Amino acid sequence: MTDLTGKTALVTAAAQGIGRAAASALAKAGARVIATDINADALADLSGPGIEVKRLDVLDPEAIRAGVAEAGSIDILFNCAGVVHGGTILEASDEDLDFAYALNVKAMVRMCRAVLPAMIESGDGAIINMASVASSVKGVPNRFVYGTTKAAVIGLTKALAADHVGQGVRCNCICPGTVETPSLKERLSEKGDYEENRAAFVARQPIGRIGRPEEIADLVVYLAGATYTTGQIHNIDGGWSI
Ligand SMILES: NC(=O)c1ccc[n+]([C@@H]2O[C@H](COP(=O)([O-])OP(=O)(O)OC[C@H]3O[C@@H](n4cnc5c(N)ncnc54)[C@H](O)[C@@H]3O)[C@@H](O)[C@H]2O)c1
Repeated sequence: MTDLTGKTALVTAAAQGIGRAAASALAKAGARVIATDINADALADLSGPGIEVKRLDVLDPEAIRAGVAEAGSIDILFNCAGVVHGGTILEASDEDLDFAYALNVKAMVRMCRAVLPAMIESGDGAIINMASVASSVKGVPNRFVYGTTKAAVIGLTKALAADHVGQGVRCNCICPGTVETPSLKERLSEKGDYEENRAAFVARQPIGRIGRPEEIADLVVYLAGATYTTGQIHNIDGGWSI
């Protein structure tokens, strides 16, 4: 079992879904957790032993700088914030691309840049970036913008890992398949029949079901403590990418 006692972890998008499950799991593993999200109301009932909640909009560079400075030295960063754009290249505007790139990629880069100096100084740090199987791992229909940005997450993860492996900083990414979260429910309700859409999503997963946020959170905890792993893509997808 991974023991993160004495470590400080910062999680983005911790109010719901995978980020929320990861914040709880990191605290259970012993870390002091700073659970952040743009939605302060939804964060409120997350506070508990080992967890401090804080509003952070990762699209705001000044808020990132101030939030990280206030948190003190961060040992573990879980960059979870992201947005799913549905549609093909022909259904994606430049604005859709810009917004997804800003949230899924640029905000992640800024978060990494903010925590890195202290990690380098202490000679120890773990960054875990949220990518997706819909990326350079797999082409998924109607996920053109999403897949483009999540492939960039894989690229930035590997580039950062290569630059800082000699300084004690590890950087890995996670590529889930479909996971049961509030935003998935919204996507399933957007077009057509919810139950039909859900059955189609389940059918994509050879393991026969949609993943649970807690299963992804376990991988986050593992990577926070996996001292011999860096620059890797960790698929956790019910067999989707076999
Ligand atoms: N759910 C899935 O099937 C799935 C699969 C693969 C990857 N992912 C990725 O996992 C991550 C989390 O997805 P989820 O489905 O668990 O959560 P979700 O989409 O249900 O919730 C997203 C959270 O992000 C927060 N958020 C939005 N904009 C923000 C901002 N600017 N700053 C800070 N927080 C902000 C929201 O308030 C919300 O709490 C995303 O990066 C997503 O792309 C999800």
